Amino acid sequence: MCGIVGYLGKKNTKQILLDGLKELEYRGYDSAGIAVLQNGEFSNFKAVGKLVNLEEKTKDFKTDGFSVGIGHTRWATHGKPTELNAHPHLGESSYVVHNGIIENYATLKKELQSSGITFLSQTDTEVIVHQFEKNLKISNNPFEAFAKTVKELHGAYAILLVTKAEPNAIFFAKQGSPMLVGINAEDEKYFASSDTPIIGHCTNVNYFEDGDYGYITSSEIAIFDKDKKRKEPKFLTLLQNKLSAQKNGFRFFMEKEIYEQSDVISDTLMGRLSENEIIFDEIDKTLFDGISEIKLCACGTSYHSAMSASYLFERYSRIKTSLEIASEFRYREPVMSSDTLFIVISQSGETADTLEALKMAKASGLKTLVICNVDNSSMVRLADATILTRAGIEKGVASTKAFATQITVFWMLSLYIAKLKNSLEDNKIAKQISLLREIPSHVKVNDDLHERIKRLSKRYLHGHGFFFIGRDIFYPLALEGALKLKEISYLHAEGYPSGEMKHGPIALADPELFTIALLPKHLHYEKSKSNVEELSARDSTICAISQIEFEKADDFVQISECRDYMLEFFEMMIVVQLLSLEISIRLGNDVDMPRNLAKSVTVE
Ligand code: M6R
Repeated sequence: MCGIVGYLGKKNTKQILLDGLKELEYRGYDSAGIAVLQNGEFSNFKAVGKLVNLEEKTKDFKTDGFSVGIGHTRWATHGKPTELNAHPHLGESSYVVHNGIIENYATLKKELQSSGITFLSQTDTEVIVHQFEKNLKISNNPFEAFAKTVKELHGAYAILLVTKAEPNAIFFAKQGSPMLVGINAEDEKYFASSDTPIIGHCTNVNYFEDGDYGYITSSEIAIFDKDKKRKEPKFLTLLQNKLSAQKNGFRFFMEKEIYEQSDVISDTLMGRLSENEIIFDEIDKTLFDGISEIKLCACGTSYHSAMSASYLFERYSRIKTSLEIASEFRYREPVMSSDTLFIVISQSGETADTLEALKMAKASGLKTLVICNVDNSSMVRLADATILTRAGIEKGVASTKAFATQITVFWMLSLYIAKLKNSLEDNKIAKQISLLREIPSHVKVNDDLHERIKRLSKRYLHGHGFFFIGRDIFYPLALEGALKLKEISYLHAEGYPSGEMKHGPIALADPELFTIALLPKHLHYEKSKSNVEELSARDSTICAISQIEFEKADDFVQISECRDYMLEFFEMMIVVQLLSLEISIRLGNDVDMPRNLAKSVTVE
């Protein structure tokens, strides 16, 4: 996801900005740029792709003496990853960088265009700089113009703006997206969207709060709150360890990624929901012409999200859906017919088995779609169409936020197809869309819940195995819970359909068999409950996860009130992720790099 840096001082601004952007590379990006204002003149460079391309473009550019500069790495969400869409964006004599989304950009853009302003990019960001310059023409006071602009923006943002009208200052604003300023004894000022770029340069840091805006010069730090009241910065000592800075205080990347799910799902939904339809600008509706079946193909966690999708596609889109494990599909001489849309799912877009399956489908003349987290990956380049999940870089080998965003995309896609095929009434689609909007609040990790799971985890360290059980779409969630646990705890765990236990596995039931039971209130509750009771009667140790208290369980994790089973799905997903995490930590394992596993499996 996007990253921001800024610098004001007498050192080598160009190098400081480029080095800062390098520290943000781990977040993922597809283009980058810098703008430096020195001796009243701007220099601006942008490049698509890796930072080496930007370095190459700036190699003859030198910065000496005092200057101000801003830089940005962009992960495209609106508008393709092109140089024109890369930040910083230029007005007449100012540049801006921005993370987040300006929700009212279309209205502002229309107004600006009707007053004769030409836009160069497809981004929402560009309105900020034009709006600022419009306000500057009226007030002739750069700070007043900036403050007015900030008040006119709706949405989430971290903004840095530099202007020839005030060449010794950097203007900033923060709402919803992170932004900080670091200082040192040499009167330099460093801005960034996270700690890492300023480590080694600064001794102290002020984390801006939502609603903060203002300007900073070599000698002044002017911060105002949302009520326009001036406030003092709160400088803290800067942590000097880069790895822990990247983890934002979390013990492991996996933990950080579990906590990030609310934000990344908001990114996944961004711009894709209207009142009663789903908008996927990136795909053409004709992709579904002549299609009467969907085949989903993937590996591991992505396979579990594919399986979840199969329930949603059949339930909401009323389209026949089949599932394929990629490594199996490749060698079983499958029959493929041209009325099938072949969908592959992959976090990395590089998994060898899935990639080969995609090649086979293409070679057989099938239409193909990839649901992927990495733009420009091999699968994205190969498939006919792509929907990006926008989870940001996932570092933990055990996938968490990639899964959550895949499910979010599939839920949206099932409604998108439902609309095309008229399989769900408009009011039902509208209701589903209102539910989709609720996901981010349901996946926010609650401290009490995390604490409860931490305590509970000590009872689940031994025993002869785990069964995660669920019905319907909670079956793939059970599979995913079991996969998470075995990957990082090295304990044996299986996912099973609740109703299938009595056909064999129940023979294993005894107090040393741990059953993690998913009991959604809004989907087959009574049926699932009876299946758990059968296990309880045979003395299996049961941990039930539900909205409804379940007295037959040895342990019970209560999720918050949800008005739909899909929201229960997301709440339970958090519980099984945290349970695996805490068990693994108690066992002393390397959570982020479990033995024998690789993040991207590019071999057969
Ligand atoms: O990058 P992909 O989604 O194609 O990867 C597929 C699997 O290798 C991956 O999901 C794996 O199962 C994860 N380690 C699960 O946590």
